Amino acid sequence: MSFTVAIDGPAASGKGTIGRALAAHFGFRYLDTGLLYRAVGAKVMAGADPVEAARALVAEDLEAEGLRRPEVAQAASRAAAIPEVRAALVDFQRAFATRAGGAVLDGRDIGTVICPEAQVKLFVTATPEVRAERRYLELVATGHEVSRDEVLEDVKARDARDSARAAAPLKPAEDAVRLDTSELSIDAALAAAVAIVEERS
Ligand code: C5P
Repeated sequence: MSFTVAIDGPAASGKGTIGRALAAHFGFRYLDTGLLYRAVGAKVMAGADPVEAARALVAEDLEAEGLRRPEVAQAASRAAAIPEVRAALVDFQRAFATRAGGAVLDGRDIGTVICPEAQVKLFVTATPEVRAERRYLELVATGHEVSRDEVLEDVKARDARDSARAAAPLKPAEDAVRLDTSELSIDAALAAAVAIVEERS
């Protein structure tokens, strides 16, 4: 039987860190679904049609260089508003979630659209300022030249677009447990997430 943990939330809320650590803790596989949209965004930046890029996506595309760049994130967020792009990526995500054993997926619509039957749904949030600061430190640590203002603008623009779009907007599932990480250390956030999963397994 499959056991799925669905994690959604805005950019840099901590959902990726929590998702990866939860998967390691429970021995589950992990999928950062933002990478699918980033891979499509990168192909669009190189001249591809977004819908065709999404239909042609293969697992190796998720390992392409440069997917973490803020320009790619913006291109991803624009492509992600196109219903046909989202539809083309559903099967890959569901197949990942429903193979035997446990899986953790993080994104924007995992609990609402991709895995509405997930045993655990988490909605991870933090204030835009906290999220922008985390993303800024992460980008600088990985050698990107960005300013704090630029990162805050990127985070706010993507939040606005991701929440306002008609196709699978960013929002908590009705049965999601909310976890605000603004004031939590990584260890404290992870401990809270582990406790939520254990209660439901
Ligand atoms: O999570 P990440 O910041 O890598 O996602 C990049 C963009 O991909 C998001 O801003 C969002 O527009 C889109 N996305 C989405 N649905 C998902 C995951 C990501 O629309 N499940």
